[in-house]
Amino acid sequence: MAGKIPHAFIDELLSRVDIVDLIDGRVPLKKAGKEYKACCPFHDERTPSFTVSPSKQFYHCFGCGAHGTALGFLMDFEHMDFVEAVEHLASRVGIEVPRDDQPGSRQPDQSADLLGMLERADRYYREQLRRHADAEEAVRYLKGRGVSGEIAARFGLGYAPAGWDNLRHALGKNDGDCRLMEKAGLLTRKEGGGYYDRFRHRIMFPIQDHRGRVVAFGGRILDSGEPKYLNSPETPVFHKGAELYGLYAARGAIKEQQTALVVEGYMDVVALAQFGIDYAVATLGTATTTAHMQRVYRHCAEVVFCFDGDRAGLAAAARAMETALGVLQDGRQASFLFLPEGQDPDSLVRAEGAEGFEQRIQGAVPLPDYLLRTLTERVDLSRLDGRARLVELARPLLKRIPEGLLRELIVDRLATLARTDRATLAGTLPRSIGHRPVQTIRRAAQAPPPKSTIGVALGLLVQHPYLARIAGDVDGLADGSVPGSDVLRDIVHLVREHPGLNTAAILERFRGGRYFKRLSELARAEQLIPDEGIQQEFQAQLAKLRFARESRELDELLDKAKDGTLSADEKSRLPGLLKRHAKGPGRQHTA
Ligand code: UTP
Ligand code: MN
Repeated sequence: MAGKIPHAFIDELLSRVDIVDLIDGRVPLKKAGKEYKACCPFHDERTPSFTVSPSKQFYHCFGCGAHGTALGFLMDFEHMDFVEAVEHLASRVGIEVPRDDQPGSRQPDQSADLLGMLERADRYYREQLRRHADAEEAVRYLKGRGVSGEIAARFGLGYAPAGWDNLRHALGKNDGDCRLMEKAGLLTRKEGGGYYDRFRHRIMFPIQDHRGRVVAFGGRILDSGEPKYLNSPETPVFHKGAELYGLYAARGAIKEQQTALVVEGYMDVVALAQFGIDYAVATLGTATTTAHMQRVYRHCAEVVFCFDGDRAGLAAAARAMETALGVLQDGRQASFLFLPEGQDPDSLVRAEGAEGFEQRIQGAVPLPDYLLRTLTERVDLSRLDGRARLVELARPLLKRIPEGLLRELIVDRLATLARTDRATLAGTLPRSIGHRPVQTIRRAAQAPPPKSTIGVALGLLVQHPYLARIAGDVDGLADGSVPGSDVLRDIVHLVREHPGLNTAAILERFRGGRYFKRLSELARAEQLIPDEGIQQEFQAQLAKLRFARESRELDELLDKAKDGTLSADEKSRLPGLLKRHAKGPGRQHTA
């Protein structure tokens, strides 16, 4: 919700900002007819399908379906929250964000407060590693694991002292602060009331998001207690399925190398960096998700996944392969590095040095080979039915790979292994369902325009707000029987009251509500109606809605007539309704 920022202000803001300038500053745009185009910043592509409309003040990608207003763009591209995005736009055009706050009622901007608290906690833990009376033990531990002061500083390592309430004493001055600390995952609530520190007597690893803000911590125990690592819980600012430990620090090196190494542990990342291998990141004790992969592939074209050589490692690799298949657009590469049993990157790099370890990286198994290897291991290729089985096993995996050269090449290899010709094999294979390249998704994203009458009417209205002027009386339509007709009525009234509203400003009125998503989709839906036909089309849709409504009324009145319960007023309306409905919807007039 816009919260305490008044709608009128958002309207004003969106009328002053130009989405074309805003986006052009981040993603250079080229003019194409009435609109502007670029390669989409939200997915990989080579031909531009990202379109920005100055008239609608709206962007939309035909390839991946991303879309939104200037505010939405900042939220998605810069990962700002709504209030941050509003503040950013306001400062851009030099106006102040008003808040209609009554004293005491103001909703604080929670994520900013959470991040502020996490930043203070981060500073506190780092400070303790330098100054706390027990820090010596922590420093000794790190030194014992070969971590230099320089590397500890680069990763912002800290120390949470032993004891139940060190952090709470330091930062939880009042109950509000304590609640915030609980929400940030720093304190745990006691059963009988009160709080205690979540992290005690642990080495602290701050987890930064893609903007370098500390959003969570991992804490390693100094001795052999349980759990070995304690992590922050999911919070409004931390989702472990989306964050990778070390990515912020490693992003420069990853870009330079065009390679990222994905490992399992915090200490693996730190130890590798200690040896100069500074392009490693770690998942946070979870399997690698699509979100993780999308995030690393933003910085490089090749990802090397590192796994233990044991059974659990193989299972994790199989899962990672399936996930990776879905994001392997052309040009992206993945490979798998299996370590000797009982070793992890930390122990190996210490044993073999950077050069030895990098040699292993060089020798990682490319995903296509790994895929075919795992399949062929399970069948007997000397048998005809074994070769048929190979194709069967490949089927679900191939389905995940986006269409493109890579998929074609894998199909070629499969054909060779199955000793069949490519065309025969391809004929038996499913089409890809993964993230397809632009040409193939284009059809999906351009999706047939909404077929329901109300959908078409709403879409036209959102895209061409001036239609509100010619909508006639729409109040009667919103009788609750057609979902969305109340929104249609509301938008018509809104635009009549505020004639300057553009598409973006209308959408922002609905942000946070149940119709926001649907309206945004309608705003980007392609309408294959020439400009001069728009008014007529809109009126035709309204006429259909009115006709349907009258039909319902007619049925109702006819039922009543049968029961003899018609009121005098209803009796007088019946002949007119009957007459109009005998002619069908085409002849309806609209206003
Ligand atoms: P490992 O058990 O392999 O530990 O966990 P490690 O990284 O080698 O740790 P060191 O070398 O003994 O310090 C790998 C990762 O799994 C998560 C952590 O992210 C860890 O880095 N993990 C592990 C937890 O979250 N909790 C645990 O109790 C253990
Ligand atoms: Mn380890």
